[in-house]
Amino acid sequence: MTCSQLFFILFAATFLFMGNSDTCSDCFTPSRASYYPNSDDRGTETGRCGYGTFGATINSGDVSAASDLYRDGVGCGACYQVKCSNMNYCSDKGVNVVITDHGSSHNTDFILSSRAFGRMAQNTDAAASLLALGIVDIEYRRVPCSYPNKNITIKIDDNSNYPHYLAFVIWYQQGKKDITSVQLCETQSYECKLLDRSYGAVWTTTSPPSGPLSVRMLFSDENGDETWITPVNDIPSNWKPGDIYDSGVQVIA
Ligand SMILES: *[C@@H]1O[C@H](CO)[C@@H](O)[C@H](O)[C@H]1NC(C)=O
Repeated sequence: MTCSQLFFILFAATFLFMGNSDTCSDCFTPSRASYYPNSDDRGTETGRCGYGTFGATINSGDVSAASDLYRDGVGCGACYQVKCSNMNYCSDKGVNVVITDHGSSHNTDFILSSRAFGRMAQNTDAAASLLALGIVDIEYRRVPCSYPNKNITIKIDDNSNYPHYLAFVIWYQQGKKDITSVQLCETQSYECKLLDRSYGAVWTTTSPPSGPLSVRMLFSDENGDETWITPVNDIPSNWKPGDIYDSGVQVIA
Protein backbone atom coordinates (compact mmCIF):
# COMPACT_ATOMS: atom_id res chain seq x y z
CA MET A 1 0.00 0.00 0.00
CA THR A 2 1.33 3.43 -0.88
CA CYS A 3 1.40 6.28 1.52
CA SER A 4 -1.34 8.18 -0.28
CA GLN A 5 -3.58 5.10 -0.22
CA LEU A 6 -3.07 4.83 3.50
CA PHE A 7 -3.93 8.48 3.94
CA PHE A 8 -7.06 8.06 1.90
CA ILE A 9 -8.21 5.14 4.07
CA LEU A 10 -7.53 7.08 7.26
CA PHE A 11 -9.36 10.08 5.85
CA ALA A 12 -12.37 7.98 4.79
CA ALA A 13 -12.48 6.22 8.17
CA THR A 14 -12.43 9.52 10.06
CA PHE A 15 -15.22 10.79 7.87
CA LEU A 16 -17.35 7.71 8.38
CA PHE A 17 -16.83 7.87 12.12
CA MET A 18 -17.85 11.52 12.26
CA GLY A 19 -20.92 10.84 10.14
CA ASN A 20 -21.90 8.10 12.53
CA SER A 21 -21.61 10.09 15.71
CA ASP A 22 -23.53 12.92 14.08
CA THR A 23 -26.63 10.93 13.26
CA CYS A 24 -26.49 9.07 16.55
CA SER A 25 -27.74 11.90 18.70
CA ASP A 26 -31.02 10.95 16.99
CA CYS A 27 -30.56 7.21 17.41
CA PHE A 28 -32.92 5.16 19.53
CA THR A 29 -31.58 3.34 22.59
CA PRO A 30 -33.16 0.03 23.59
CA SER A 31 -34.54 -0.27 27.13
CA ARG A 32 -37.64 -1.20 29.12
CA ALA A 33 -40.61 0.75 30.45
CA SER A 34 -43.37 0.15 32.95
CA TYR A 35 -46.12 2.44 34.21
CA TYR A 36 -47.37 3.87 37.49
CA PRO A 37 -49.84 1.19 38.62
CA ASN A 38 -52.06 2.91 41.14
CA SER A 39 -51.81 6.62 40.69
CA ASP A 40 -53.60 9.02 38.45
CA ASP A 41 -53.54 7.83 34.87
CA ARG A 42 -51.90 11.16 34.01
CA GLY A 43 -49.19 13.19 35.68
CA THR A 44 -48.30 13.45 39.33
CA GLU A 45 -48.18 16.39 41.76
CA THR A 46 -45.63 14.68 43.94
CA GLY A 47 -42.89 13.82 41.43
CA ARG A 48 -39.26 14.24 42.44
CA CYS A 49 -38.77 17.08 39.98
CA GLY A 50 -40.75 19.37 42.30
CA TYR A 51 -43.23 20.57 39.66
CA GLY A 52 -46.21 20.37 42.03
CA THR A 53 -49.62 20.93 40.44
CA PHE A 54 -47.92 21.70 37.11
CA GLY A 55 -46.65 18.10 37.07
CA ALA A 56 -50.23 16.84 36.97
CA THR A 57 -51.17 18.71 33.80
CA ILE A 58 -47.92 19.19 31.85
CA ASN A 59 -47.90 17.71 28.33
CA SER A 60 -51.53 16.59 28.83
CA GLY A 61 -50.31 13.96 31.29
CA ASP A 62 -47.85 12.27 28.96
CA VAL A 63 -45.11 12.17 31.61
CA SER A 64 -42.61 9.73 33.04
CA ALA A 65 -40.32 8.98 35.93
CA ALA A 66 -36.74 8.31 34.86
CA SER A 67 -34.06 6.31 36.64
CA ASP A 68 -30.55 7.13 35.30
CA LEU A 69 -31.93 9.76 32.93
CA TYR A 70 -33.08 11.76 35.98
CA ARG A 71 -29.39 12.75 36.30
CA ASP A 72 -29.69 14.16 39.83
CA GLY A 73 -32.44 16.48 38.65
CA VAL A 74 -30.74 17.83 35.50
CA GLY A 75 -32.98 15.52 33.46
CA CYS A 76 -36.17 17.07 34.86
CA GLY A 77 -38.22 18.60 32.06
CA ALA A 78 -36.33 16.74 29.31
CA CYS A 79 -38.52 15.18 26.60
CA TYR A 80 -38.17 11.70 25.15
CA GLN A 81 -39.84 9.83 22.35
CA VAL A 82 -40.60 6.36 23.71
CA LYS A 83 -41.91 3.59 21.48
CA CYS A 84 -42.51 -0.02 22.40
CA SER A 85 -41.23 -2.89 20.30
CA ASN A 86 -44.06 -5.46 20.22
CA MET A 87 -45.17 -5.42 16.58
CA ASN A 88 -48.68 -6.67 17.41
CA TYR A 89 -49.53 -3.79 19.72
CA CYS A 90 -47.15 -0.89 19.22
CA SER A 91 -47.38 2.10 16.92
CA ASP A 92 -44.36 3.36 14.95
CA LYS A 93 -44.37 6.78 16.57
CA GLY A 94 -44.81 5.86 20.23
CA VAL A 95 -45.34 8.76 22.62
CA ASN A 96 -43.44 11.91 23.60
CA VAL A 97 -43.10 12.25 27.38
CA VAL A 98 -41.65 14.81 29.80
CA ILE A 99 -39.58 13.69 32.80
CA THR A 100 -41.29 14.81 36.02
CA ASP A 101 -40.17 12.21 38.55
CA HIS A 102 -37.40 9.85 39.62
CA GLY A 103 -37.81 6.11 39.90
CA SER A 104 -37.23 2.70 38.38
CA SER A 105 -38.59 -0.80 38.68
CA HIS A 106 -37.39 -4.06 37.11
CA ASN A 107 -34.49 -2.42 35.22
CA THR A 108 -36.66 0.10 33.45
CA ASP A 109 -35.44 3.49 32.29
CA PHE A 110 -38.98 4.88 32.31
CA ILE A 111 -42.06 4.55 34.49
CA LEU A 112 -44.68 6.22 32.32
CA SER A 113 -48.05 7.56 33.34
CA SER A 114 -50.57 4.91 32.32
CA ARG A 115 -51.97 7.39 29.81
CA ALA A 116 -48.58 7.69 28.11
CA PHE A 117 -48.00 3.93 28.32
CA GLY A 118 -51.28 3.27 26.51
CA ARG A 119 -50.47 5.88 23.88
CA MET A 120 -47.57 3.76 22.62
CA ALA A 121 -50.20 1.32 21.29
CA GLN A 122 -51.80 1.20 17.83
CA ASN A 123 -55.37 1.52 19.20
CA THR A 124 -57.47 1.16 22.34
CA ASP A 125 -57.59 -2.64 22.27
CA ALA A 126 -53.83 -2.83 21.79
CA ALA A 127 -53.43 -0.35 24.66
CA ALA A 128 -55.37 -2.69 26.97
CA SER A 129 -53.12 -5.60 25.95
CA LEU A 130 -50.02 -3.46 26.48
CA LEU A 131 -51.16 -2.34 29.94
CA ALA A 132 -51.81 -5.99 30.83
CA LEU A 133 -48.16 -6.78 30.03
CA GLY A 134 -47.04 -4.19 32.58
CA ILE A 135 -43.40 -4.03 31.50
CA VAL A 136 -42.42 -3.83 27.84
CA ASP A 137 -39.32 -3.51 25.67
CA ILE A 138 -38.96 -0.03 24.28
CA GLU A 139 -36.63 2.23 22.33
CA TYR A 140 -36.18 5.88 23.26
CA ARG A 141 -34.43 9.05 22.13
CA ARG A 142 -34.26 12.61 23.40
CA VAL A 143 -36.47 15.03 21.46
CA PRO A 144 -37.08 18.78 21.81
CA CYS A 145 -39.87 19.78 24.19
CA SER A 146 -42.55 22.00 22.70
CA TYR A 147 -44.89 24.34 24.58
CA PRO A 148 -46.54 26.56 21.96
CA ASN A 149 -47.20 30.11 23.21
CA LYS A 150 -45.42 29.56 26.52
CA ASN A 151 -42.40 31.37 27.90
CA ILE A 152 -40.11 29.89 30.53
CA THR A 153 -42.01 30.46 33.75
CA ILE A 154 -40.78 30.81 37.34
CA LYS A 155 -43.06 29.44 40.07
CA ILE A 156 -42.12 30.59 43.58
CA ASP A 157 -42.22 27.46 45.72
CA ASP A 158 -44.78 27.34 48.51
CA ASN A 159 -41.97 26.60 50.99
CA SER A 160 -40.37 29.98 50.33
CA ASN A 161 -40.30 32.43 53.21
CA TYR A 162 -40.14 36.09 52.17
CA PRO A 163 -37.58 37.67 52.44
CA HIS A 164 -35.28 35.06 54.02
CA TYR A 165 -35.58 31.99 51.87
CA LEU A 166 -36.36 31.81 48.18
CA ALA A 167 -37.12 28.57 46.35
CA PHE A 168 -38.53 28.36 42.86
CA VAL A 169 -39.22 25.88 40.08
CA ILE A 170 -38.64 26.43 36.37
CA TRP A 171 -41.56 25.50 34.09
CA TYR A 172 -41.98 25.27 30.29
CA GLN A 173 -38.40 24.83 29.19
CA GLN A 174 -38.60 24.17 25.46
CA GLY A 175 -36.06 22.53 23.21
CA LYS A 176 -33.46 19.88 23.90
CA LYS A 177 -31.02 21.59 26.26
CA ASP A 178 -30.42 21.17 29.99
CA ILE A 179 -30.48 23.93 32.58
CA THR A 180 -27.26 23.14 34.43
CA SER A 181 -26.77 26.28 36.58
CA VAL A 182 -28.90 29.17 37.77
CA GLN A 183 -27.77 32.57 39.04
CA LEU A 184 -29.83 35.06 40.98
CA CYS A 185 -28.86 38.63 40.12
CA GLU A 186 -29.62 41.83 41.92
CA THR A 187 -30.78 44.10 39.09
CA GLN A 188 -29.20 47.43 40.08
CA SER A 189 -25.60 46.41 40.79
CA TYR A 190 -25.96 43.27 38.73
CA GLU A 191 -24.29 41.22 41.40
CA CYS A 192 -25.10 37.57 40.88
CA LYS A 193 -24.83 34.47 42.99
CA LEU A 194 -25.06 30.84 42.01
CA LEU A 195 -28.04 28.99 43.41
CA ASP A 196 -28.22 25.45 44.74
CA ARG A 197 -30.27 22.85 42.97
CA SER A 198 -32.25 21.67 45.96
CA TYR A 199 -33.67 18.71 44.03
CA GLY A 200 -35.26 18.18 40.62
CA ALA A 201 -36.07 21.52 38.98
CA VAL A 202 -36.14 23.36 42.34
CA TRP A 203 -33.53 26.09 42.96
CA THR A 204 -33.02 27.70 46.36
CA THR A 205 -31.10 30.33 48.25
CA THR A 206 -31.06 31.62 51.78
CA SER A 207 -30.77 35.40 52.09
CA PRO A 208 -31.78 36.38 48.53
CA PRO A 209 -30.87 39.97 47.60
CA SER A 210 -33.60 42.58 48.00
CA GLY A 211 -35.11 44.49 45.10
CA PRO A 212 -36.15 43.04 41.75
CA LEU A 213 -34.31 39.84 40.88
CA SER A 214 -33.11 38.43 37.60
CA VAL A 215 -32.89 34.66 37.22
CA ARG A 216 -30.09 33.82 34.75
CA MET A 217 -30.08 30.26 33.43
CA LEU A 218 -27.18 28.29 31.92
CA PHE A 219 -28.32 26.12 29.01
CA SER A 220 -26.08 23.21 28.03
CA ASP A 221 -26.47 21.07 24.95
CA GLU A 222 -25.35 17.49 24.34
CA ASN A 223 -22.01 18.66 22.89
CA GLY A 224 -21.20 20.58 26.05
CA ASP A 225 -21.87 24.03 24.53
CA GLU A 226 -23.13 26.42 27.20
CA THR A 227 -25.11 29.68 26.97
CA TRP A 228 -26.33 31.99 29.73
CA ILE A 229 -29.84 33.32 29.12
CA THR A 230 -31.04 36.45 30.92
CA PRO A 231 -34.82 36.79 31.12
CA VAL A 232 -36.64 39.89 29.89
CA ASN A 233 -38.75 40.05 33.05
CA ASP A 234 -37.48 40.22 36.64
CA ILE A 235 -38.98 38.69 39.74
CA PRO A 236 -40.51 41.71 41.52
CA SER A 237 -39.06 42.78 44.87
CA ASN A 238 -42.24 41.79 46.71
CA TRP A 239 -42.29 38.17 45.49
CA LYS A 240 -44.60 35.81 47.36
CA PRO A 241 -44.76 32.02 47.79
CA GLY A 242 -47.05 30.57 45.13
CA ASP A 243 -46.58 33.42 42.67
CA ILE A 244 -45.98 32.62 39.00
CA TYR A 245 -43.80 34.88 36.83
CA ASP A 246 -43.44 34.85 33.04
CA SER A 247 -39.72 35.24 32.28
CA GLY A 248 -40.47 36.70 28.83
CA VAL A 249 -37.94 34.38 27.15
CA GLN A 250 -38.04 30.99 25.54
CA VAL A 251 -35.21 28.81 24.31
CA ILE A 252 -35.91 26.91 21.13
CA ALA A 253 -33.55 24.22 19.79
C1 LIG B 1 -43.43 35.81 26.08
O1 LIG B 1 -42.60 36.93 26.31
C2 LIG B 1 -42.74 37.99 25.38
C3 LIG B 1 -41.78 39.08 25.77
O2 LIG B 1 -40.48 38.68 25.72
C4 LIG B 1 -44.16 38.51 25.37
O3 LIG B 1 -44.29 39.48 24.36
C5 LIG B 1 -45.12 37.36 25.12
O4 LIG B 1 -46.45 37.83 25.26
C6 LIG B 1 -44.89 36.23 26.09
N1 LIG B 1 -45.73 35.11 25.72
C7 LIG B 1 -46.66 34.63 26.53
C8 LIG B 1 -47.45 33.50 25.99
O5 LIG B 1 -46.85 35.04 27.66
